[in-house]
Amino acid sequence: MRFPTILAAIVATGAWLATPGRTPDLATAPLFATAHDIYQGQAAGTAAAQAVDQPPQPDPFGRTFDDVIRTNAVRMFVDGQRIFRFDTFGDEAFWGDTLGLHRAIAGSRFGGVGTGLSPATALGLGLKVDAEALPPWAVSAIANGRVDVNDPAVTLALLSIDAVVGVKGIRGPRGALTSVGIQCAFCHSTVDDAVLPGIGRRLDGWPNRDLNVGAIIALAPDLSALADLLQTDQATVRTVLNSWGPGKFDAELILDGKAFRPDGKTSATLLPAAFGLAGVNLHTYTGWGGVSHWNAFVANLEMHGKGTFIDPRLDDPTRFPVAARAGFGHVRNTPDLITSKLPALQYYQLSIPAPKPPRGSFDAGAAAAGKTVFNGAGRCATCHVPPLFTEPGWNMHAADEIGIDDFQANRSPNQRYRTTPLGGLFTRQKGGFYHDGRFANLRAVVDHYDRFLNLNLTEPMKASLIEYLKSL
Ligand code: HEC
Ligand code: HEC
Repeated sequence: MRFPTILAAIVATGAWLATPGRTPDLATAPLFATAHDIYQGQAAGTAAAQAVDQPPQPDPFGRTFDDVIRTNAVRMFVDGQRIFRFDTFGDEAFWGDTLGLHRAIAGSRFGGVGTGLSPATALGLGLKVDAEALPPWAVSAIANGRVDVNDPAVTLALLSIDAVVGVKGIRGPRGALTSVGIQCAFCHSTVDDAVLPGIGRRLDGWPNRDLNVGAIIALAPDLSALADLLQTDQATVRTVLNSWGPGKFDAELILDGKAFRPDGKTSATLLPAAFGLAGVNLHTYTGWGGVSHWNAFVANLEMHGKGTFIDPRLDDPTRFPVAARAGFGHVRNTPDLITSKLPALQYYQLSIPAPKPPRGSFDAGAAAAGKTVFNGAGRCATCHVPPLFTEPGWNMHAADEIGIDDFQANRSPNQRYRTTPLGGLFTRQKGGFYHDGRFANLRAVVDHYDRFLNLNLTEPMKASLIEYLKSL
């Protein structure tokens, strides 16, 4: 990159950053918008209108379309990260205004209900604290045990500086908590525990397998909106939410109303990795669609943000009775706080690599031998094609191809399971493997394949295959 190019990229990005509240429309700017348009920070709409009327003007700084692309890449990344971490898409209208979750967090001492959410309880529910949002004195006070972890006032203080990962506190004129919203990072980020367990730097894309989503939602004083949607009572909703347990969420409950599987266990699935997704065709355990399909789905239907979502597959009253009744396949809100954010949000997620396991967490020699098993006798690479570790192409399988029941597959349009990309497996040992964590550890996964595919793997082959999986 030439020096003036770098400078222009920095200036353009910096200029944008200095303008709070600007929407990241440039991601969708037409191809003929010039670098000059971007430098001037004009709205994409204006640039497009002008470009139709007049030929593009020569860029006064001599920048090329390559420069436009580079600037756009920087902006998409920066915007996407901000959206993933901090955007609620207006969902506080649901979590706060409708369910009253903020009232349970505040407690009666601060204008809410009950005892309030102490930091100790919040950490116990798996919520994480972003140490980089804290002033240095607060980090040392926490590290030295000089903060009262039983005082809900501390939780409110953390919320006021956006230090609770994935949770946005909305404050009124006098600083009181008046609502609360959630962000993608709520389920899809954790922290590195650098200060204390649960307190550290953000790890975007790492599933928070400590987070008890159901128990957190169940704190809300008024679950009538969910009870009405599911045509049941609040007590039943609370029982269902409390049945999920840590690291799980049931994205299909609000579509089909199936809270429990035929075997009586929860139908919630594990929070999946949201890293290493570039190059992967279909997403979610059951391959609902591409990243942007699912992002629009989640932001509108699960987070209850305000946007547009269209998926007529949800009109099927037999398979998706709740969704069909509620019209979830045809959601429109004005203003739409989601659609314009999808490009940058996708871009950021595709930028997150699968993390590499820490040195010493696996036996490198054995892993090398295990690679041979993975690609050969184990037949793993027939589906988990390296280095994507899912199929380049149609990455879906019927339940009987992998030897499990079809309950969860049948809750999705394709009625299949998606081949899970295996990068960064070490980050999701907690909660087990497969969509519902049915295999407690990698040994159980390998034994399952060995039995089901009649692989006849020897003990040393199994052991080395496990070391290879740990190395991914
Ligand atoms: C309440 C927890 C929760 C929140 C909030 C949440 N997700 Fe998810 N996410 C899940 C679960 C659970 C799944 C798996 C769903 C399934 O397979 O049925 C998932 C799946 C995904 C996947 C697919 C990953 C893969 O394996 O291919 C992506 C991408 C994703 N979410 C992105 C997002 C984005 C972006 C947001 C914010 C707009 C978001 N999620 C908000 C829980 C959550
Ligand atoms: C027929 C295709 C296929 C073959 C062959 C296959 N897998 Fe899988 N694999 C899948 C699918 C589909 C899933 C998702 C299952 C689910 O979530 O319920 C999966 C999931 C996994 C998971 C769980 C990942 C997670 O995060 O939960 C691991 C680990 C795994 N496979 C390893 C292997 C190994 C090791 C082999 C070879 C012994 C192998 N697979 C062979 C299709 C396959």
